Amino acid sequence: MSDIPVIDPTMTPAWDTLDQLADNFDPDLRKLFADDPTRTQTFTFDAADLHVDLSKNLVCPTLVGHLLALAEQTGVLELRDRMYAGEHINVTEDRAVLHTALRRPATDSLTVDGQDAIADVHEVLEQVYAFARRVRSGEWVGITGKPVKTVVNVGIGGSDLGPVMAYEALKPFVQEGLECRFISNIDPTDAGETTKDLDPETTLVIVASKTFTTLETITNAKVVRAWLLDALRERGIVSDEASEKEAIAKHFVAVSTALDKVAEFGIDPANAFGFWSWVGGRYSVDSAVGTSLAVAIGPEGFADFLAGFNAMDRHFAEAAPEKNVPLLMGLLNVWYSNFLGADTHAVLPYSQYLHRFPAYLQQLTMESNGKSVRRDGSPVTYETGEVFWGEPGTNGQHAFYQLIHQGTRMVPADFIAFANPTWALGDGDADMHELFLSNFFAQTKALAFGKTSEEVRAEGTPEAIVSARVFTGNRPTTSIMAPSLTPSVLGQLIALYEHITFVEGAVWGIDSFDQWGVELGKVLAKQILPAIEGSSEALDAQDQSTRALIEYYRANRTK
Ligand code: F6P
Repeated sequence: MSDIPVIDPTMTPAWDTLDQLADNFDPDLRKLFADDPTRTQTFTFDAADLHVDLSKNLVCPTLVGHLLALAEQTGVLELRDRMYAGEHINVTEDRAVLHTALRRPATDSLTVDGQDAIADVHEVLEQVYAFARRVRSGEWVGITGKPVKTVVNVGIGGSDLGPVMAYEALKPFVQEGLECRFISNIDPTDAGETTKDLDPETTLVIVASKTFTTLETITNAKVVRAWLLDALRERGIVSDEASEKEAIAKHFVAVSTALDKVAEFGIDPANAFGFWSWVGGRYSVDSAVGTSLAVAIGPEGFADFLAGFNAMDRHFAEAAPEKNVPLLMGLLNVWYSNFLGADTHAVLPYSQYLHRFPAYLQQLTMESNGKSVRRDGSPVTYETGEVFWGEPGTNGQHAFYQLIHQGTRMVPADFIAFANPTWALGDGDADMHELFLSNFFAQTKALAFGKTSEEVRAEGTPEAIVSARVFTGNRPTTSIMAPSLTPSVLGQLIALYEHITFVEGAVWGIDSFDQWGVELGKVLAKQILPAIEGSSEALDAQDQSTRALIEYYRANRTK
């Protein structure tokens, strides 16, 4: 059993103090700002290239002191150091948690389980970079000698969400003439729609799966393999086992920790990029799982991406607690969810390029911190793991912001924006970025300071609708800005949220790095399949609701 102490946070003096403070907590951001002209300065921090303003949160310096005491009393920073050192802090799987090793420079070394993890990381990175260069230069050709135009990543969860999010975010950095597509869902529509207009001769498939056993990914990989071979057969390009083998070798590569299973699937292990059990799926976009991205933005871009992660890792490791942005943001989340009753947390990027960022964060945060027992198996008696969600602004403004502004629930929100657009603005849209960012600034201002009934009346509003037009304000937000959305800045942003997630899990004493909760559904799906396919025995074994639903399905399925 692990020697990492497990502390019940509710037993700490700091929890007690925070509990008492929360009892009659009645924050007034207008007053807090009026009383302290240096508030913004006090609560604004630079972490690598990220400029983070926490001043519109419902805190004062004394309260932050209590939150830092909570971190100290629950051993957050000790656990951070154990994580960075490669100790097995993922106790239920008895594994090290070393995504931070994926982005350390080659000059570093770190022995994990008797092996230099950093040397291993750089060996694989060199393979990925060499492969990316061959694809980008046109040296890697398909079975008919044509260069690759489309890379299709087949994966799910961490083997999909990170690559697709980062590819979308970094589109302006993608080499012209190359595109990436992503297949994840076992809904046949996904593979069908993604491949329907593709030329197999110029398509390269990356099958990404840490375990190489995930049903969705293996099924989709088989479907795509069949699509490719059928199409090549129809064109008379493949005709026998040898030419099929050649086609797979030239059009399929894999990313996995299970290279034996890659070979079983028929992909040459020489065309496979490995990683290690100490990289969690949701923390793996910066490993070989990011191969599609490395091809798209090139080795230099990918190296910048990794350098961005590393800059934030160093900030988290080295910045003093009172200036440590991931630590402070994680603690604020604990304050809102455990003491002020917030259930959800919105992430609202003012960048269309980040449109998949909230979805990516959902796996990162919710698969990590949706736990009900601590690392020693004892049940928690407090909330863990907020529901993360979001959409890019300004779209969200015209959809769900109403609830954030005037609803009865507190929804802490992170607003993210960039001073410079990465999209090359044309003459006609030169001032659009100003228009766009004026919304970013306006929203956090409205949420913090609201609009009083006096102000509403002063506008001549009829008395009957004054209350409907009042904004209470005091709705907490964090503003994160950076000069522009580069590969490095994206790496910094991802690492920021990885560490925020870590801090919350560490306070709660849970294992943020396992995901047993996804297992039961997988097992039951396997048991249910025969019932759907017609076995009356399997159907009878179901509970009455599931049985009735399957019967409905079978009665209504017409094709
Ligand atoms: O959803 C469970 C999970 O294990 C995730 O943690 C992981 O990212 C995903 O499935 C895909 O797993 P793999 O990369 O092994 O195919």
